[in-house]
Amino acid sequence: MTQTVETDFIALGDLGSGGKRARARNLGTLVVFAGDDLAFGDATRALLGDSLDLVQRAAKVAKFKGAAGSSLDLLAPTGVQADRLLVVGSHAKKKPEGEAEYLNLGGQTMGKISGAEVITVAFDLPGETAHPAGAAADFMLGVRLRSYKFDLYKTKKKKPDEDDSTPAKVKVSIAVANLAEVRREAKHREALADGIVKARSLVNEPANVLYPVEFAARAKELEKLGVDVDILDVKAMQKLGMGALLGVGQGSVRESRMVVMRWNGQKGSKAKPVAFIGKGVTFDTGGISIKPAAGMEDMKGDMAGAACVVGLMHALAARKAKVNAIGAIGLVENMPDGNAQRPGDIVKTMSGQTVEVINTDAEGRLVLADVLWYIQDKYKPEFMVNLATLTGAILVALGKEYAGLFSNNDELSGRLTTAGTATGEKLWRMPMGPAYDKMIDSQFADMKNVGGRNAGSITAAQFLQRFVNDVPWAHLDIAGTGMASPSGDINQSWGSGWGVRLLDRLVSDHYES
Ligand code: BES
Ligand code: MN
Ligand code: ZN
Repeated sequence: MTQTVETDFIALGDLGSGGKRARARNLGTLVVFAGDDLAFGDATRALLGDSLDLVQRAAKVAKFKGAAGSSLDLLAPTGVQADRLLVVGSHAKKKPEGEAEYLNLGGQTMGKISGAEVITVAFDLPGETAHPAGAAADFMLGVRLRSYKFDLYKTKKKKPDEDDSTPAKVKVSIAVANLAEVRREAKHREALADGIVKARSLVNEPANVLYPVEFAARAKELEKLGVDVDILDVKAMQKLGMGALLGVGQGSVRESRMVVMRWNGQKGSKAKPVAFIGKGVTFDTGGISIKPAAGMEDMKGDMAGAACVVGLMHALAARKAKVNAIGAIGLVENMPDGNAQRPGDIVKTMSGQTVEVINTDAEGRLVLADVLWYIQDKYKPEFMVNLATLTGAILVALGKEYAGLFSNNDELSGRLTTAGTATGEKLWRMPMGPAYDKMIDSQFADMKNVGGRNAGSITAAQFLQRFVNDVPWAHLDIAGTGMASPSGDINQSWGSGWGVRLLDRLVSDHYES
């Protein structure tokens, strides 16, 4: 069972006030916010009533001044109907920096209250700046993302009295001044939260459970939200001539699949669809060019690109985004075997171009080559954005802070970069060009699948570009950001669900009518 958190919004006025507590109820753990120099909002002052004095005395003892990131924890406070009072330093004097600000505050707050089952948040941030209606909704998203935990396979749960840091169910009520407005905004964030959680769980699942056929079945669940989902099996892909994708999967007893998801939120519109394509290698041993044993278990996450696409399609459909969007994922398992492809093999892609497979561990680009071609050919999209845990080299270049961005189009690049800054899922554009492209010319075929030691992430991108015609295209190399993610305010999970917020933002900012 995965720990669940339930959130809802209530009116600030319904919390009662310290002075007259006629309507007051037990608030469980009450969270309030303090700004610099222990500034409180008016609603917070009213709510605290007599206990304001207690808070001020405790703050003095603890040297708590309301700085961002700090907090003051009061157990069994008097003068307020709560078991516990947590005062969280908010970001009062700093100008809000967009959605990530409140999102992170939601995550931080949850990080400070392990053990609480009933939580009431008085969302009344001090300071003169007006906070957008989306602020409380973003806070809620942060609460939900921070609370996600993948413990499906832990059978030895601690008894509740042994470990009160993880109650099975947590209820968080967020009290706001502008209830109706916040509820409207929250619908979008709920959809996003569900999509991100879905992506995270796909990345976290082990490869013996989540192989291509099972992954396709999970994508098929999107039909419940009104998404059209087509699954192409090996025979169908053979018919299309997808020799590159199929070559990667031929060493596995798990059959390959391709899934195409379509969300038509702009019914009747003639607008071209936007397209998102994901690498879905459910496990990457490297194949015959086998990887070293150390850390190979991480290669269950080599489908983080595909997971993001499924999570994104979930979010778009759940919030009924006014866009026509296509999500396509290539699902294969890369195994060494008597039937596996060999270094030196030459495969024919759906585009007709041939590839000499120098290294069977450079498999992601082979999978994407056929999926990119198929989507471009069949749907003539407005743009294609693909996500892939493509190269270890991008980790060397950018670490886990930024994903690599490669593109043939400045406008699309700019929009993606801006969405990255706004959401905190940051992108760094890398160069491309003919000199790099030349590095993958092959002696025997149209191209080879690796370019040598130098510029590994760039030559991988050049390879993909050979399967893109005139359509605006961007490739996001998420080997650093998509898996084995560091813990932070809004993520404690190995699989972070990276990219769902980024691409949802790209869509809502530019492609919804
Ligand atoms: N899935 C890996 C890339 C990867 C590495 C993802 C580390 C996440 C963390 C990819 O298929 C791969 O093996 N790439 C090779 C390419 C090389 C053979 C040219 C690599 O990066 O070593
Ligand atoms: Mn590989
Ligand atoms: Zn791989």
